[in-house]
Amino acid sequence: MSKVTVVGAGNVGATVAQYVAEKDLADVVLVDIVDGLPQGKALDMLEASPINIHDRNLTGSNDYADTKGSDIVVITAGIARKPGMNRDDLLKTNAKIVQDVAQQTVKHSPDAIFIVVTNPLDVMTYLTWKTTKLQPQKVIGMAGVLDSARFQTFIAMETGYSVEDVRAMVLGGHGDLMVPLTRFATVNGIPISELLSKDKINALVERTRDGGAEIVKYLKAGSAYYAPGASVSQMVEAILRDKNRLLPCAVYANGEYGLKDVYIGLPAVLGKGGLKKIVEIKLTSEEADALKQSATSIKENIDKMNELLVPAV
Ligand code: APR
Repeated sequence: MSKVTVVGAGNVGATVAQYVAEKDLADVVLVDIVDGLPQGKALDMLEASPINIHDRNLTGSNDYADTKGSDIVVITAGIARKPGMNRDDLLKTNAKIVQDVAQQTVKHSPDAIFIVVTNPLDVMTYLTWKTTKLQPQKVIGMAGVLDSARFQTFIAMETGYSVEDVRAMVLGGHGDLMVPLTRFATVNGIPISELLSKDKINALVERTRDGGAEIVKYLKAGSAYYAPGASVSQMVEAILRDKNRLLPCAVYANGEYGLKDVYIGLPAVLGKGGLKKIVEIKLTSEEADALKQSATSIKENIDKMNELLVPAV
């Protein structure tokens, strides 16, 4: 029986737990620093199991000993940016949380594959890799699946065709510098350029880029969690069921696409053991430049994190 630990029983963590159990993927242990929160949410979800029919166990805990022997650890612990807080404050606060969570979880599950969700995503994934000292293939960030799902949703909405037939991939960092590959976006193999005007496509790209902010604007307090939770569950499924799915994920680049020593969104094959392979496709010079720019910005933030964190990673 597979075991998935989700650290952070907030909006994203709880949604991940729900999808993982209800898709019948694994037993779930939900962990949080707040006493009672993971226990209450896990029990509530378990009580839905006779209705949604699965035999997966869901438990909540404040003790990392309960995460022992997990196949996958999902890190969603962290805080959202609060008024008056600058990006550096957020970086420092979440880095400390993620560092602590990574240390605690890897101690009890040295063979686990880590999926990182806490923002700033690419930097936190890098930190988790450094902290756990695992092979980079076992530490993966969730961003590209979500950004691509948003892009696909907007394509479906604009064309009026089923999401079932829409495919699209967004590479690069999870932020303003994401790189949506519009050339490869299709409706059942038909390039979207055959179906939508250039202006329309550009508008969809912009909406994708601002996808997170659009939700925050509506919610006011808090950020997106249904689509992020679903995205994580897709990655969990790919790994546990050894599906060899080709998904855009934040992975460690070691020369691929001319990028080195950085976590960034690239086409990744996920299956047993985590990342099996980074697929290199030929990019246009425009796309390659955008990817490079994205990597430069992530590296600057990694440097900043190293300055802010004591001890440095
Ligand atoms: N250990 C365990 N849990 C922690 C810790 C810690 N050191 N610090 C904070 N948490 C928990 C909080 O108690 C809270 O329950 O992390 C949870 C975060 O939940 P929310 O505030 O609801 O945030 P959420 O919307 O789930 O987002 C989590 O995912 O998408 C990203 O940007 C988002 O970084 C954010 C993360």
